[in-house]
Amino acid sequence: MSNTSSKHSEDKPLTVPDIRAMKGSERIASITCYDASFARLIDQTPIQLVLVGDSAANVIYGLDTTLPISIDEMLMHTRAVAAGLTKPLLVGDMPFLSYQPSAEIAITNAGRFLQAGAKAVKVEGGGPHIREIITKLIEIGIPVMGHLGLTPQSVHRFGGFKLQGKNASDAERMLAEAKLLEEAGCFSIVLEKIPSKLAEKITSTLSIPTIGIGAGPSCDGQILVLYDLLGLDPGFKPRFVRRYAELAGIIRDALSRYASDVMAGNFPSDKESFR
Ligand code: KIV
Repeated sequence: MSNTSSKHSEDKPLTVPDIRAMKGSERIASITCYDASFARLIDQTPIQLVLVGDSAANVIYGLDTTLPISIDEMLMHTRAVAAGLTKPLLVGDMPFLSYQPSAEIAITNAGRFLQAGAKAVKVEGGGPHIREIITKLIEIGIPVMGHLGLTPQSVHRFGGFKLQGKNASDAERMLAEAKLLEEAGCFSIVLEKIPSKLAEKITSTLSIPTIGIGAGPSCDGQILVLYDLLGLDPGFKPRFVRRYAELAGIIRDALSRYASDVMAGNFPSDKESFR
């Protein structure tokens, strides 16, 4: 599996079948995003898949769980990200209660994500009820990405953001659900916070790509929350996050220097003013 550069033509937008076809030949670099400014920067990198994650609830709205974010808030972020992206596949994360109540509600809300610029939606869980909803979405032409393992919308059932699939029966159930999600037509599945060995087993069993977060190196792709990767919250450093920048200090320093300049009368200068 090549993992250094994309085989995809530089200027063509990536499609759902493109991502699906990367299984076994190309690792998929994915990231979350919530606004147009970051989307424009991501667009200038080799990243292939962008998720407007309901982690927006945490990193944008400062909440402890993803449960309170609304479909309208998610759609605003999706529209903003779509405005800044030309190349990567854009996936909208369906928030809590926007798909679980019924297939009809799921279809209406998933359709709104596509109208906002997403090319696919992601839903959490692999039980029979969710699979039925997924089947209906796919039947009417809406591509679906699955999500198994630590599915944050079920945080209260799990009793916290805990590693999932640790014991043999949980692992077996997750593998079975992954196969059923593939059968239902998902084009890929996010695996979150599960043992590497289980992620490896699921990845080698499926013919659709797995995208890991806290699921070890064997997944077909990886995803991180953009703000975690950039180090915007120095106090948040889970084991599975690698920080590629420490922007919190840089931003704080820039803001402090700006404040000092304003307070000392050093900003704006003549060159930064109009005659
Ligand atoms: O909401 C999110 O950001 C996610 C990813 C971490 C997979 O679901």
